[in-house]
Amino acid sequence: MEKYNGLVMMAVVMFCSQCWIDVEARPVIERRNLLANGVGMTPPMGWNTWNHFYCDINETVIRESADALVSSGLAKLGYRYVNIDDCWAEHDRDSTGYLVPKRSTFPSGIKALADYVHGKGLKLGIYSDAGHRTCSQTMPGSLGHEQKDAETFASWGIDYLKYDNCNNGDLKPMKRYPEMTRALMSTGRPIFVSLCEWGDMHPALWADTLGNSWRTTFDINDSWDSMISRADQNEVYAEHARPGGWNDPDMLEVGNGGMSNDEYIVHFSLWAASKAPLLIGCDVRSLTNETLAIIGNEEAIAVNQDPLGVQAKKVRMDGDHEVWAGPLSGYRTVVVLLNRSPEFRTITAQWDDIGLPPNTVVEVRDLWKHATLEKRFVNELRADVHHHACKMFLLTPLTLSGKDEPKV
Ligand SMILES: *[C@@H]1O[C@H](CO)[C@@H](O)[C@H](O)[C@H]1NC(C)=O
Ligand SMILES: *[C@@H]1O[C@H](CO)[C@@H](O)[C@H](O)[C@H]1NC(C)=O
Ligand SMILES: *[C@@H]1O[C@H](CO)[C@@H](O)[C@H](O)[C@H]1NC(C)=O
Repeated sequence: MEKYNGLVMMAVVMFCSQCWIDVEARPVIERRNLLANGVGMTPPMGWNTWNHFYCDINETVIRESADALVSSGLAKLGYRYVNIDDCWAEHDRDSTGYLVPKRSTFPSGIKALADYVHGKGLKLGIYSDAGHRTCSQTMPGSLGHEQKDAETFASWGIDYLKYDNCNNGDLKPMKRYPEMTRALMSTGRPIFVSLCEWGDMHPALWADTLGNSWRTTFDINDSWDSMISRADQNEVYAEHARPGGWNDPDMLEVGNGGMSNDEYIVHFSLWAASKAPLLIGCDVRSLTNETLAIIGNEEAIAVNQDPLGVQAKKVRMDGDHEVWAGPLSGYRTVVVLLNRSPEFRTITAQWDDIGLPPNTVVEVRDLWKHATLEKRFVNELRADVHHHACKMFLLTPLTLSGKDEPKV
């Protein structure tokens, strides 16, 4: 029977390249374990070079950014990964087939950078591509060189790999990604595996044995439309997120200047509630107080890092405004009231929608005002929300209906 199941799955994979949903839905397919590397039990937090610097990177800006994560207090809040994106290597491999750090921009090499970053209590991430060249085309990809590259990364002390999808020769991701994951596992070093397949073939449905996170979308840019559409596309896969494997709607743009402060608060609120990786994408060496107040919001971060690890979902859509909600540990609930319209809206979250039993009395904390509301709420919570803005609330039940007696 098992052999038969395997054949069915192979047939589906071979002849049905766009139907991962069917694969998932077939009862004959057994669920396998998550990627057993022990990392990513909460969404990863850190910083990445791409959204602000693109290819204009070097060891100085990496070191200064690591310094800034510590001096700003962000490292203490959990932002520990310092991630180098594309463009860090020489155009070609050396004569023995190894990747070479770009001599003009990383003259001390990546190992020295890892030592520096580790010395500050942080972790170093790097980037490669499941193709022949990376997206920038300035350096080789790892396709066909997985073992060598994984060993190189482990020997340098790398803690995180973002693995991209460009120049892949039209090979299906299922044929390209497993090799690198196996190679990384074989090094024995726990390395967070961030699959950047852009959501092309719905990796949420098959990548949980291969990665600790998987992109569900194409690249974000620093605009409201891009940000909010990434959140929408990512939300579809909410059921697939869990400790050890997360949906990834791409990195943060907060602080890069293209959105209003309210829009950046929406960005951070939705990423936090969606259990998305929180990878800062601005220049952390020159943070404004406004930016720091957003990415440094400890209460929103605590929602993201909650041990229950359940991704919030849209539980009510009413034209241009929405209620997002998700359960947290301790019977608590996070609620985001989101106004996507160009005008002011009054938005109501019903207990029925957010999954609280009727008549539950809750205490409500406003996670952006950092204040607990004096009023207690029963059956619904209503608030006025400015255009392109949101409210983010933490609901703690004071009574639980049914057999559970009041906790307070
Ligand atoms: C390193 O990169 C930063 C950010 O792009 C740039 O401002 C700086 O001039 C670069 N430094 C060197 C030595 O190239
Ligand atoms: C950013 O993304 C939006 C929505 O996806 C798109 O309409 C816009 O053209 C993009 N802007 C840039 C500068 O790429
Ligand atoms: C930013 O915050 C710091 C510390 O709270 C304060 O000293 C400084 O005046 C603020 N800067 C501005 C421009 O508001």
